[in-house]
Amino acid sequence: MKKRIFSGAQPTGQLHLGNYLGALKNWVALQNEYESFFCIVNLHAITLPQDPQVLRQKTLDLARIYLAAGLDPEVSTIFIQSDIAEHAELTWVLSCSSRMGELERMTQFKDKGKGNSERAGVGLFTYPVLMAADILLYQTHLVPVGKDQKQHLELARDLAERFNRDFGRTFVVPDPFIPPVGANILSLQEPAKKMSKSDENPNGAIFLLDDPDTITKKIKRAVTDSGTTVEYDEARPAISNLLTIYHLMTGRTIEESQAHFEGRGYGHFKAELAEAVVEFLKPFQEKAQSYTDDELNRILKAGAEKARVIARETLRDVYAKMGIVGAV
Ligand code: AMP
Ligand code: TRP
Repeated sequence: MKKRIFSGAQPTGQLHLGNYLGALKNWVALQNEYESFFCIVNLHAITLPQDPQVLRQKTLDLARIYLAAGLDPEVSTIFIQSDIAEHAELTWVLSCSSRMGELERMTQFKDKGKGNSERAGVGLFTYPVLMAADILLYQTHLVPVGKDQKQHLELARDLAERFNRDFGRTFVVPDPFIPPVGANILSLQEPAKKMSKSDENPNGAIFLLDDPDTITKKIKRAVTDSGTTVEYDEARPAISNLLTIYHLMTGRTIEESQAHFEGRGYGHFKAELAEAVVEFLKPFQEKAQSYTDDELNRILKAGAEKARVIARETLRDVYAKMGIVGAV
C-alpha cells in the first residue's frame, strides 16, 4: 500500500511564491508517489477575524490555486476542512491530552498573538491541536510543509505518540517533509523575515496572482546586501534569497546560476529574475482562471466524500479505545 501525505494551506490573504516554493511545489512533486490529501483549512483561518464574504470566496480561490499549481484531482484528494466534522471532534480529544506548556512554547502563537496572551484568541492558542487532528485523522506518514510549520509538526508527533502509549497503537506518527531549498523564502523588503501573507508591506511578497508589471516592480525594488556579485552566501541573505528563487523557478542549479550571472550586476540579475517569475506565473494564472465555480465545487465534494470515509474510521477507533460510547 502507498504511504499517505497530508498538507494544507489557509484560505486567507493571497498565496505567494513562498507558499508555492515551500509547500505546493512539493505537494505536486509527491502526489503520485503517495496517497495524497490536500486540505483547504478554513477552520484554521478563523483563528484570526475573517470577513464571511471574503472567506467564502477565498476558499474556492484556494482550490483554484491548488489545481493551477498542478494538483490533479484524479490523483489527489482535495477537500475543505469544515466538510469533515471529524477534524473538530478529534481536536477536542487531542486538546485533552495537550499541555498548556507545550502550546505556550509555539512560536507562531507568540508571533500572531503579538505576545499578548491575555487578548489572544483561544483558537489561536489551540490552532496546532487542530493541525495535529488534520494530520492524524488520515494516518499520515509524511507532511510536506515550509520551515515555519516544523514546530507544529513536532507537536503532532508528540500527541500521536502519547495517545498510542496510553490507548494502544492508533495513529501513524507523521514525519515532516521540509524541502532542503525553498522552505523559508524571505521577504523581498526585510530579508530577516519570511515572505508572508500578512506582511504590512505588499512589496515584500510576490503573490501568485500578481500581474507582470507588479512582479517586475517588486523585484526591482527588492533590497540587496552590500556587495555587487550575484553569489549565494549565508552572510548575504537578500541576494541568496533572490538566487534561490531564480534557481527554483528556472531549474538551473545555484552554481549554474552564479556562473550565468558572473561579471553582471544586480540590475541585470533582477531583470532576468523578473522575466523568469513572470514566465512561470503566466500559465499558472491562466490555468487558475480557467475553472468555473461549479467545477471546483464538484472536485471539492468528491474529495470530501473520499476523505470522510477515512476520517470516520480513525475517529471511531479513537472513541472505542477511549471508552467513549453513545446510546445511538
Ligand atoms: P499558510 O499560508 O500559512 O497556510 O502556509 C501554507 C504553506 O506554505 C505551509 O506549508 C507553510 O509552511 C508554507 N510557507 C508559508 N510561508 C512560506 C515561506 N515564506 N517560505 C516557504 N514556505 C512557506
Ligand atoms: N498551519 C498550516 C499553515 O499555516 C496549515 C495547516 C493546517 C496544515 N493543517 C495542516 C499544514 C496539516 C500541514 C498539515 O501553514
